[in-house]
Amino acid sequence: MGDDTVFQVRDLQKHFPPRHRLAAGERRPVRAVDGVSFDVRRGEVLGIVGESGCGKSTLGRTMIRLLEPTAGEIRFEGRDLTAMSERELKPLRRRFQMIFQDPHSSLNPRMSVRRILEEPLITHGTARSDRRARVKELLDAVGLPADAGQRYPHEFSGGQLQRVGIARAMALGPEFIVADEPVAALDMSVQAQVLNLMIELKEELGLTYLLIAHDLAVVEHISDRVAVMYLGQLVESADRDALYRQPLHPYTQALMQAIPLPDPTRSGGHVPLRGEVPDPADPPSACRFHTRCPFAEDVCREEAPAFRQVRPGHRAACHFAERFLAQAAPMGCRSPRPGS
Ligand SMILES: Nc1ncnc2c1ncn2[C@@H]1O[C@H](COP(=O)(O)OP(=O)(O)OP(=O)(O)O)[C@@H](O)[C@H]1O
Ligand SMILES: [Mg+2]
Repeated sequence: MGDDTVFQVRDLQKHFPPRHRLAAGERRPVRAVDGVSFDVRRGEVLGIVGESGCGKSTLGRTMIRLLEPTAGEIRFEGRDLTAMSERELKPLRRRFQMIFQDPHSSLNPRMSVRRILEEPLITHGTARSDRRARVKELLDAVGLPADAGQRYPHEFSGGQLQRVGIARAMALGPEFIVADEPVAALDMSVQAQVLNLMIELKEELGLTYLLIAHDLAVVEHISDRVAVMYLGQLVESADRDALYRQPLHPYTQALMQAIPLPDPTRSGGHVPLRGEVPDPADPPSACRFHTRCPFAEDVCREEAPAFRQVRPGHRAACHFAERFLAQAAPMGCRSPRPGS
């Protein structure tokens, strides 16, 4: 493992107990994360994108062991987190943190902002005198006035409150942050401000982010690499520019179409996404996307495609990825049908 790899995730699975009976009366676990492998490199922003329910939050929480993995391996700087007891994990916990989607529900409404920011410091044994100074520093770092500490969550706008959420995640000086749809609950007008703040902090503090979003537009401007998730699995990952210029999986192509303000220089934006996401307790066999894929052929219903490198740094799990690569002119043309 190179020095620049912070996290190494291999075949990670997180299954939840069955919620309901399937049509056949059977109960099966919800396979929220079902065999995911990827690396996170130091200093990068890795965007994770996919529709609601595909397992993004579960992946983010499981990789920092806020949830117990069902199977698989998670290495943080080479150390296997899955094998660690809670006691062994505690000193590491301050090094990875989470920013949640909705600051109104993730921050305790009965605590003052100062108390909210002090809480992780108390848990990790910071002395009282240092805590006061740290809270002041944190408020300043996220662009809130010093007197914000005395106020309560309901006194803030969504954007300001997410700044508190970011400050809380920064309190212990983390290196790695899972940002789970950090701007999804905010007005469009403040989304960019909050993302810009996250980027400033990242540059200043040398952070690494896993940035979760349900559409490709949010992660585009701030991600270095992007991974696309479908029904508990990764279907494509690449450097940002490569992925947006030439998506090699029909699911990514479909998500691309959902981006507002279509960019005429982009290819791959012509595949409609049909139907609902299937039940993660009963995913389609072989290629999980075949029930919604406009290009599906027999092989897709019979064999699961490997998540493989199609060109350097660009992985995709589609039987036709190589053909898409060969046929698509990278700029401004319709995405091709395989074999046409
Ligand atoms: N604690 C839980 N118990 C049972 N099932 C769960 C639990 N948490 C999540 N799930 C299920 O796991 C699947 C993945 O959920 P998850 O929240 O990770 O998706 P997501 O991609 O983050 O979706 P969203 O975009 O809506 O946040 C869903 O089917 C969800 O209902
Ligand atoms: Mg989620």
